[in-house]
Amino acid sequence: MNTAEFIETYYTERNNTNSLKVDALQERYGDAGLLPLWVADTEFSVPETVKNVLSERIAHGIFGYSTVPVDYFKAYDGWQKRHAGTQFQAEWLHFSTGVVQALYDLIDCFTEEGDAVLVQPPVYYPFYHAISDKKRSLVTNPLILNDGIYQIDFADFETKIRDNKVKLFILCSPHNPVGRVWQREELEKVLAICEKYQVLVIADEIHSDLILSNQQFTSAITAASNLKSLIVCNAPSKTFNMATLLNAHIWIPSKNNREIFAEWSSRNKQTENSSLGQLAAKTAYQTGDEWLQAFLGVIEENYHYVKDRLQTEIPEIFVGELQGTYLLWLDLSQWIPKEKVKYYIQDKAQLAIDYGEWFSEDCKSCIRINLATSPKNIKIAVDRLIVVDQLKKGVDNHDKI
Ligand SMILES: Cc1ncc(COP(=O)(O)O)c(C=O)c1O
Repeated sequence: MNTAEFIETYYTERNNTNSLKVDALQERYGDAGLLPLWVADTEFSVPETVKNVLSERIAHGIFGYSTVPVDYFKAYDGWQKRHAGTQFQAEWLHFSTGVVQALYDLIDCFTEEGDAVLVQPPVYYPFYHAISDKKRSLVTNPLILNDGIYQIDFADFETKIRDNKVKLFILCSPHNPVGRVWQREELEKVLAICEKYQVLVIADEIHSDLILSNQQFTSAITAASNLKSLIVCNAPSKTFNMATLLNAHIWIPSKNNREIFAEWSSRNKQTENSSLGQLAAKTAYQTGDEWLQAFLGVIEENYHYVKDRLQTEIPEIFVGELQGTYLLWLDLSQWIPKEKVKYYIQDKAQLAIDYGEWFSEDCKSCIRINLATSPKNIKIAVDRLIVVDQLKKGVDNHDKI
């Protein structure tokens, strides 16, 4: 399936489906007419095979208590063998309704109030919410921009861990919003520092399937020399656009940590598994390879379109290098003042994006745009930025916006 066939088959309008991205624009941005390029889900429906299996299940009409589908792990393991090659083991697997819920649970289970938790800004903002909601203390190791690529400041990472007696590190891999796919050596270095200071690592690998063609994803499981202090969260939800089917994975390799989590869960976690979510995930892992390849083709085309056109037409905008995820990070600091980002991007260009300040106080000049939509929408967004640029330069193109 090429990208044109994929778009033809799977692109789906989402208006009037209670879609957060599309139908909540008035509530979230105060303007229902914006082009929605925010929040991390997509306008592409799940693979046909998944739709069919869910339709059959829905026609059956009973949604009582369920067990995990037979061969769920085998389907996941097969997916891994064909994709990143990470060696998971079935006994490590726990389910959650979502990765964010898993982070809240794991913070609760493995740390105490007041404990220091480290993250790497700019980073997915629910990490901050989980840390503050659970009354843990936030420690940051900001990423640094070197030669146009975001990188880890390893010296600062170690200093912050040592000086703040950090108990837990939440790794975002691939990294949302800067789109980095961490190299094995980078992961080895941070994991070794965490081992040295006995820091538990939760690797949020929800974007691990969304890797652009010149990149290779390495799981923290593969890079770690010791799995005793590592927990990995991932899910089929970003990959296949099924966040509200409420099925995510928590992989706990250490037996001791599994026992601690089981004891904590018996006191705090009485949720059922999502039968539809697990059925959808199992089917997607068994049959979704071609769908994913075509979907990634769309992301890659949209990325190059934005990068190439902005580089030519508005070179003052810095377009981050997208290695993984479908979320593109733009730095507007050389183009417009940070106080004017909302004015130009939302009020004038009529785009609903994620504001950089949501990911870090220091990123008020940045925005994140979601590329997982039709090339037509992406072209509209870039056209509008170019008209705004002309407006800014005093050319009267106001009525074109
Ligand atoms: C890094 C990261 N973790 C977690 C999530 C959300 O996961 P869930 O919907 O399973 O809570 C997202 C969504 O964008 C994300 O980017």
